[in-house]
Amino acid sequence: MLRTKKIRKFFPAIKAGRIISNNAASTQVPVQLLDLLKKLVVQYDNVHRGQSRSSLITTEKFEASYDTIAQFINAPSRKNIILFRNATEAINAVMYSLLTEFKDGDNVVTTFMEHNSNYVPWYGLCKEILPKFGVKVECRLAKFNKETGELDLEHLKSLVDKRTKLVCAVGASNFLGTINPLKEIKAIADASGYLQPSGEARSYVLIDGAQIVPNMLIDVRELDIDFLAWSFHKMLAPFGVGALYGKEELLVKMKPFLYGGDMIAEGQVSPEKVAFNSLPWKFTAGTPNILGTILSAQAIRLLIDFALDPRRHKYFLADNKLEAADIKKAMAEIKAHEQALVGEALKILGSMPSLTIFGPKDPTRRTSLVAFSCQDKSPFAIAEGLSKLGVESRAGCHCATLAHHYYKLNPPASCRLSFYIYNDLEDVDRACWAVKKCIN
Ligand code: ALA
Repeated sequence: MLRTKKIRKFFPAIKAGRIISNNAASTQVPVQLLDLLKKLVVQYDNVHRGQSRSSLITTEKFEASYDTIAQFINAPSRKNIILFRNATEAINAVMYSLLTEFKDGDNVVTTFMEHNSNYVPWYGLCKEILPKFGVKVECRLAKFNKETGELDLEHLKSLVDKRTKLVCAVGASNFLGTINPLKEIKAIADASGYLQPSGEARSYVLIDGAQIVPNMLIDVRELDIDFLAWSFHKMLAPFGVGALYGKEELLVKMKPFLYGGDMIAEGQVSPEKVAFNSLPWKFTAGTPNILGTILSAQAIRLLIDFALDPRRHKYFLADNKLEAADIKKAMAEIKAHEQALVGEALKILGSMPSLTIFGPKDPTRRTSLVAFSCQDKSPFAIAEGLSKLGVESRAGCHCATLAHHYYKLNPPASCRLSFYIYNDLEDVDRACWAVKKCIN
């Protein structure tokens, strides 16, 4: 287990007595990042837009943040990292940037276990946007097993064909907790035979990494995926920054998502022609979330420090490269810690006969969240009861609306507890026994 005793001291929200168990929605911010924000606010100036010392230093910190983010997922360089407001915007950016590449008769394959961020953009593309241009593209949905919560790979395979431009899947479901087999999904996409404009014969793969990047080792080169989207507010940073990893050769050819300032090649704007900036700035139109970006990269550094040894900072505020062995060790520790927490939650909640627990029974197959419904009480009543007992949860469809309808839940809702690195077994026990009180 992680050294939670030490880690917890850094979180004002925990010191305030809160039982933080809605972490799949957002995690809390540690004091180191709050202090850093205070410091940066009085030092900073805009990036790429000034000659002052403040502007130059801020630009350096801002650009270096892209390097940290790239290193964390083993991307080749900062050119592979595009930052947006959140993971949803990152996925929309892929959709809009690829829009003109879709051909009549193409399809996109996604799944019934997606967060709306990785279904609704593809629905929008297929049903709202492309038909206006006379282009028909189908959005196909792969099933999952209701009992086990596992993606039906055979069904996915049957949906992918030589007209599948893109296969989109969630890395881990924010409702079922299921960790999806990304290598198998990639192999299915690779075998499609879809002829991409580059001449490659395969489907692109986009992974919604919102529930995996904060919780386990993700190596984009090993996975060989084309796009990965995630958000930093689920991994200790404040709100406002989401990332897109993309293969450089694809990003180079893709249309910009947003057009405007700083995404153009210096001076190359005329009534006849506009040339675009190099990567990643081609996708960074307008003044970006400068402080959010710096804090997001420092959140990664701090996360690794907390997992390796919360008593010392090897990476936070240092400008050293993240070592692959440290990332691997830190993320393995985090995953093991979370599995112990979710194992405990499954054990306690599983002993309550009126509850239906969604997703895999085996904690090693899931992230640290548990969603459930109760035969006698609505998820909203349970969540409100929990709140009265000081336990934070989320009731609703968690934006996994398709999956809730898939179970024919009426209303389409469940109650969810979700844990992160600062939670200990005592938090889990308190949260789960509070559920018992609420359902009785
Ligand atoms: N996607 C976030 C959740 O699962 C907001 O709650």
